[in-house]
Amino acid sequence: MAKTVRLKIARRDNVHSPRYWQEFAVPYRAGMNVISALIEIQRHPVDAAGRTVKPVVWDSNCLEEVCGACTMLINGKVRQACSALIDQLEQPITLEPMSKFPPVRDLIVDRGAMFDTLKKVRAWVPIDGSHHLGPGPKVAPAVQEKAYLFSRCMTCGCCMEACPQFNSHSPFIGPFTFGQVTLFNSHPTGALNKHERLDAIMGVGGLTDCGNAQNCVRACPKEIPLTEAIGHLGWETTKRAFQRLLKE
Ligand code: SF4
Ligand code: SF4
Ligand code: FES
Repeated sequence: MAKTVRLKIARRDNVHSPRYWQEFAVPYRAGMNVISALIEIQRHPVDAAGRTVKPVVWDSNCLEEVCGACTMLINGKVRQACSALIDQLEQPITLEPMSKFPPVRDLIVDRGAMFDTLKKVRAWVPIDGSHHLGPGPKVAPAVQEKAYLFSRCMTCGCCMEACPQFNSHSPFIGPFTFGQVTLFNSHPTGALNKHERLDAIMGVGGLTDCGNAQNCVRACPKEIPLTEAIGHLGWETTKRAFQRLLKE
């Protein structure tokens, strides 16, 4: 008998409809990952009992663990579907959408809150106008190396899913933010907006809401040193609070 891959998928038809489970058995091919199993279901939307069902929908883009779009819970662990190899997963493989973001449909969630947070902390280096600005400031190799670690963030949401402080009842902006503030504050031009970024992570929902459980750093597929960023920003925000006090 031909080898099959068994999957159990949490489904939802739209934002308002309830969640339900469906099981699938798709033909096995060597080297398959979770996305290729989902493509198989999309091509042939029939459940394990032989009933025709609505094709399962999910998000994906780069297919090489760079964009973060395909993040979901695979056998209960938050990770990217494109780098989850079928041969390395216990079956039936359970697929669920992340639980900390608003559901959209099937395995798709709305990670918009993360992008809103990036705007809030000005997670970019501002360069106004199209005129020639001349060479930028030199960045020391040691600073570049550190910045590179944080620049690998793909806004995937794994750290947010793992963080006990980030949930629908809390205003906490979440761990990935601290990596991005550290990154842009370390750039000589980005540092011009350093105080605005620090102000944005101070107060309600900011850095002090972190409970220091360190789940975030363990969940990050890019091994971004988030707890290091949290420690560093703790010191930076304390200095900033004193500065603000002295100005008043
Ligand atoms: S250290 Fe814990 S509470 Fe703080 S951001 Fe990371 S997971 Fe969340
Ligand atoms: S810090 Fe890591 S886990 Fe969090 S969004 Fe960025 S890449 Fe994903
Ligand atoms: S599709 Fe881009 S990370 Fe998986």
